[in-house]
Amino acid sequence: MLDFKIAQQVKANTDFCHILGVQAKDKKVLHKNWPKEIQNIAQKYPILKEFKGEEGEIYTVFDKEQNPIIIMGLGEKIKKEQLKRNIATAFKNFEGQKVDSALIYLDTFAAEEIKKVDEMAELFVEAFALTDYKFNLYKSKQTKEKKKTIVLNSSQKIATASIKAAQQTAECINLSRDLSNKAPNELDSVSYAKLLEQDAKKLKNVKIKILKKSEIVKEKMGLLLSVNAGSSKEPRFVHLTYIPKKKAKNSKHIALVGKGITFDTGGYNLKPSTSIAGMKFDMAGSSTVYGAFRAAVLLESPHTISCIIPLTDNAIGPTATTPDSIIKGRNGKTVEILNTDAEGRLILADALDYTCDLKPNYIIDAATLTGACLVALGTEVCAIMSNNNDLTQKLKESAQNAGEYLWELPIIEEWKKDIKSKVADIKNIGGNRNAGTPKAAAFLQEFIKNDIAWAHLDIAGVADNQSHLPYCPANGASGVMIKSLINFLMK
Ligand code: BES
Ligand code: ZN
Ligand code: ZN
Repeated sequence: MLDFKIAQQVKANTDFCHILGVQAKDKKVLHKNWPKEIQNIAQKYPILKEFKGEEGEIYTVFDKEQNPIIIMGLGEKIKKEQLKRNIATAFKNFEGQKVDSALIYLDTFAAEEIKKVDEMAELFVEAFALTDYKFNLYKSKQTKEKKKTIVLNSSQKIATASIKAAQQTAECINLSRDLSNKAPNELDSVSYAKLLEQDAKKLKNVKIKILKKSEIVKEKMGLLLSVNAGSSKEPRFVHLTYIPKKKAKNSKHIALVGKGITFDTGGYNLKPSTSIAGMKFDMAGSSTVYGAFRAAVLLESPHTISCIIPLTDNAIGPTATTPDSIIKGRNGKTVEILNTDAEGRLILADALDYTCDLKPNYIIDAATLTGACLVALGTEVCAIMSNNNDLTQKLKESAQNAGEYLWELPIIEEWKKDIKSKVADIKNIGGNRNAGTPKAAAFLQEFIKNDIAWAHLDIAGVADNQSHLPYCPANGASGVMIKSLINFLMK
């Protein structure tokens, strides 16, 4: 638990962990903006003479009372994202200290894209709150987390609204991480839908509609039902709508769609032991869009936002759909199921068709859709595929501002042809293993109607285990791409 406070002048002699930044251009070790007390202390540390203020350099020294002082190098021209990572490292350092309060000298920090002290304060709040995230739900011994106070100190005035917004953003990303980290025996389609309902009920200006199996049947969502066929749980279809109180001139209707496979066994195309563990994260698309939706509601986005989440597991059993089955989707197209492990595209297909009927200006889906995405772009980069260049550019800009990597892959005619079936309209896998990620996108595009601008984010690589990002837990759900979506929803 972190408690953030704003202060304009604090005496640097209380029980704080002091956190300061040094830019390389301030050749002298001691920064001109540092409080005198800290300068005096720092002078006593010969080791600090070596300190060049290079990016990534972090030193911890102690004052007379053994209060830690963390000094961070910022280099020549640090980028915001790089600073965010360094702040996360500094937070971990502070966590290891005895004191429970930190005092941040915001005036000693600078970053290339940051113009106002408010933005610097936001960066600290967000980075601290994201790094503070722990998932201990299933530990029988619950250790009580100590409350930590973080004082943001600047000679300039910091708006409390900025702090609050950054806290809400981090809270939504952490809530999304919680959802993804839940064990699949606990978070199934039915319990997950209930959980979303309970949470969304607390949000203002949000309407909730949750379709049960009988209603999903009435909607003719044959593809979602086919994935659910082997399950002991009913499917659910979550439809949330946020209508802003205050619309702006540029107000749009944006629809988010998230893959909600609560566990992916692969079905009859059963996954091997080496790749089945971790498939509880196959609902990360849904938790990503819900996290972004929730934040946009709290931050009062000017846009109407729909959040659509099809939910089921992909189970194996006597009633499960077999390969070679041919299933009709909600849009009337028939699909030859050649691989039951390519199930994400099936549930998204019906969800996308349903979403098109809402006539939004934009549809953005997020899904842990293909293992091939990790081959193409590794575990650090999210793939984007779209039918609309303008939307792609807007999303890339939003990702750039969030410090998240987003890279476009094409959907070429040849790949659209490759998913045509001899016996049905289309088939759910391509003719070979090549270009698995964009071929999955070509499949999804079959379910976009009326030329609605649509973009598909394949988050298979980035959804979990982002150990290279200091503000993400080394294992488990990352929450990566939520900030990008929030940026898009708030523009
Ligand atoms: N959920 C998986 C994709 C995945 C793999 C996500 C690894 C995260 C990590 C998806 O449903 C799947 O199994 N896709 C298949 C598609 C194939 C059968 C065309 C895959 O990637 O192997
Ligand atoms: Zn699968
Ligand atoms: Zn899957």
